[in-house]
Amino acid sequence: MREGKSAVKILFVCLGNICRSPTAEAVFRRKVSDTGLNHLVHIDSAGTAGYHTGSPPDKRSQEAAKARGYDFEGITCRRVSESDFEIFDYIIAMDKANYDNLLQRSLADFHPKIHLMMSFTSSDYEEVPDPYYGGRRGFELVLDLIERACDGLLAEVKLKLG
Ligand code: 4NP
Repeated sequence: MREGKSAVKILFVCLGNICRSPTAEAVFRRKVSDTGLNHLVHIDSAGTAGYHTGSPPDKRSQEAAKARGYDFEGITCRRVSESDFEIFDYIIAMDKANYDNLLQRSLADFHPKIHLMMSFTSSDYEEVPDPYYGGRRGFELVLDLIERACDGLLAEVKLKLG
């Protein structure tokens, strides 16, 4: 990561931080690394709930992502903290419930940093659906949507970095 204020800091957020947001973290890490920008972008993920704090990502997410070549190394579940709103430039919610939760728990000054993941692409989906209680196809859909949204996010980050 580049020293000083100019590195772009991105936090992906879902409910549990074991399925969608760690997937977004892994996918975006790869895309950023593939474009040689990893020293300029800081990437993390967190959950609005603390049910799984300290756990690795869900095995089903890991398997689906691994099949597409993504790596979950070093990703451990944590809950969103108050300091995240100060530290991160982009706080990106996977669905509207997480988005509303983030708005409710932060000061209005921080609201411009909070975005919906699917706002970075054009899609019939406005949210990345929660796959936790569903089957394998849900995990593939999560990856499909996150890959698309990450392309749009990467384009925006490149513009921001100039
Ligand atoms: P995530 O999925 O928000 O994408 O990590 C979930 C993980 C766990 C639970 C719900 C959603 N849960 O109820 O434990």
